[in-house]
Amino acid sequence: MVGPEDDSGEPVGDGQAGHVVELVWPDGRTETIRVGSDESIVDAAEAAGVAIPYGCLYGACGTCTAELLDGELRHTTHPRALKDRSLDTGYVLPCIGTPETDCRLRVGHGIQAEVVGTPWR
Ligand code: FES
Repeated sequence: MVGPEDDSGEPVGDGQAGHVVELVWPDGRTETIRVGSDESIVDAAEAAGVAIPYGCLYGACGTCTAELLDGELRHTTHPRALKDRSLDTGYVLPCIGTPETDCRLRVGHGIQAEVVGTPWR
């Protein structure tokens, strides 16, 4: 099943504050988006017309798993889909992640498999 639409309807701020996030796909394609201080990276990407994988939008399914290459990102709620070891090695959940600095993120469907496929579960 594909995840439902986000129906939160919460305000996203005025969009002026925030940080620049560069999204990097495995094929080398990149997109740069601006993410407001109260906005998740998935929300900002959607608003910019940039498609990145997502499902639940609340940190449980892991579909959106990405790797933080540079910068700092804060999860606004507990990232249930990621184990501590994955978090320690730089994996993040953009659906509940908002940047604290300008960031570079590796995104794409294959990244969730890297996390799920680890032998230390
Ligand atoms: S969309 Fe489900 S964890 Fe991010």
